[in-house]
Order: sequence, then C-alpha cells, then structure tokens
Amino acid sequence: MTDTPLSTAEPGTPISSLPLGQRIAKTRVPTLRFESSEGTGHYVAQLIARLLRQRNQADKPTVLGLATGSTPIGVYRELIRLHREEGLDFSRVVTFNLDEYWPMSEESIHSYRRWMRENFFDHVNVAQANIHIPRGDLPRRSVDTFCEEYEQAIEEAGGIDIQLLGVGRTGHIGFNEPGSSRDSRTRLITLDPVTRKDAASGFYGEENVPLRAITMGVGTILSARQVICMALGEHKAAVVRQAVEERPTDRIVAIFLQTHPDTQFVLDAAAAADLTAIRTPWTVETVNWTPLLERQAVIWLAQKAGKPILKLEARDFHEHHLADLVEVRTGLVQDVSACVRRG
Ligand code: F6R
Repeated sequence: MTDTPLSTAEPGTPISSLPLGQRIAKTRVPTLRFESSEGTGHYVAQLIARLLRQRNQADKPTVLGLATGSTPIGVYRELIRLHREEGLDFSRVVTFNLDEYWPMSEESIHSYRRWMRENFFDHVNVAQANIHIPRGDLPRRSVDTFCEEYEQAIEEAGGIDIQLLGVGRTGHIGFNEPGSSRDSRTRLITLDPVTRKDAASGFYGEENVPLRAITMGVGTILSARQVICMALGEHKAAVVRQAVEERPTDRIVAIFLQTHPDTQFVLDAAAAADLTAIRTPWTVETVNWTPLLERQAVIWLAQKAGKPILKLEARDFHEHHLADLVEVRTGLVQDVSACVRRG
C-alpha cells in the first residue's frame, strides 16, 4: 500500500491542493483510505469543488446527487467553508437527493428535506428551484407518479454528474435494501429492520421509525457519471469489505457499484480495517515488515495452519505468503517461547 495522489486527478489540478489517501491494493473497485474522517470529507469536497469550478467557468450547470446521514456531514461542512471563505459558487448547481422517509412531513425534525436545509442548503447559494428531494408528504396514490417525475427531472437536468453515497450496514445505497435489483429506479420501498434499528436513536425508538421510504433506485444511482461512496467507522468495516472485495450479488446492494465505470470508495481507517490489504497485507503485496506486523502475521499463520505458534514449520510460512518471515522465524519462536515461560 502506498500513499498516492488522487487516481482521478485531472490535468491542471495542482496535486498539492488535494488531500492524499492510500489507494488500497486488490479491491474490485478503486478504494481510498484516509487516516481520519476529516480527510475523507476534505477529499470528497475537493472533488466536488473542482468539477463545480470547471462548470462555472464554462457557464454550465453541475448536477449533484446528494446523501443525508452522518457520513457526508464533513463534505457539506467543507463545501460550506469553501463557499464562505473561497467564494465557491453554487448558483448553477442542481441537486437531487437520494431518499426521504415515507410518510414524512417536510417540517418534521426527522425529514431529510429539513436535514439538508440545516446542514447544507441554508449555508450556500443553491437556488431553491434547483433543489430536488423525494417528497415524503404525498398520499400513497400520488407516490408512483412522483417517482416517475423524479426520474424525468434527473434526465431533463442532463443526468447526475457526481453521486454522493453513504452505505448502510445492510449494504444499502440510498434506501435500496437487500434484494433491490440493479435496474431499479426511484420507488417506494420497505426499510430493512437493521436500517430501522440504526435510525432508532434519532427517532427516539425503533417503533417511531417509518416503515417505508422513497429512494432513487440502484439503476438511477448507476446512471450517474461519477459515484463516490463514503464509509466511516468500524461499524461499516464488514459491509465495506463485502462491497469492495466480493463478487456482485443482490444481497449486498453496494456491490453493484463495482459495475460502474467511475466509482470510488472513500473510507476512514476504521471502515477500511477489515479489508484484506489492511488486515493481512502480506497476502496481497510486498510489505515492509515491522516487529508488530511480523507478530500479527505469525498469529494469523498459526490460525490458518491450525497449529500452535511453536509448532509452525518453515513449510507453513512458505505456503502462506510468508516466505519473508522464515528467516525471522527462529527469533519469533524464541520470543514466543520466552513469553510463554514468563506466563
Ligand atoms: C441517506 C442514505 C443512506 C445512508 C446510509 C448510511 O440519504 O441514502 O443510504 O447513506 O444509511 O447512513 P449514515 O451515514 O448515517 O451511516
């Protein structure tokens, strides 16, 4: 794993102005890891700001697909700072939010519409008429037509340039829960119990979380020209590993992002912790061994080989990508023996 500048950096962008992330080896989709959640927010905000400046210069609109939730907060915070301190202009921006609970009144403290106002729209100069958010206040009989019109509005705006996503513990993107098809479009869906549990604290109890939501479909999301899926925190580590390392299945909807030509996952260190290249880097690339890594590798090898550490043989090291450690094996075995003796 190496510190690399942005893989997506475009000509003319001074590399030094963009936050650096570690490009993770051997994932099925480009994946960047940052030490902190702040790093992810700055990086994604810079990607958005860069496109916005280019489009503004050409007097063209920028169409953004936006997410709510705890994950993108740092992005919005940084975009607001760029607007206030560097004059980043949002006047030509058109936005489409991913989802909204249904039923949900606009003014409810739980509504995503209100969340977007408080966390972003009230602090930048996006024109009111350019903001699109699924309506949670419609009667059931009007929802399907609304969903079709939402799709049309995206198309009429010229399609989404950058789609920002978080990922749920069920693997949902938007509120496309397990089983959603790759071609699904904007529609009313039933929330997974895990998603409702995760939302429970905000609603003062799971029983208050709506059962349903309106969400852009997987197909709608995949129609965006660029997709940035963020994940923060150790509670996302397992689903992130599945999303970027496993083969496509509709069980984990975020895996469909692997089929998009311009997607990247942007992770903090905790969300990246389960990735193979982080947990067991010696299985995917040449590593710079440190005493800590050596010990981790030997413990892993003992588990893999199903043997106590003191019984590991040179052959075990060779068979499990740890030939490098054969030479240090004797020392390690002595260390372990000493530890065992000390109790
Ligand atoms: C929100 C959305 C959801 C969230 C996901 C992660 O608009 O579409 O998919 O991105 O549930 O939520 P947080 O960021 O709160 O962990």
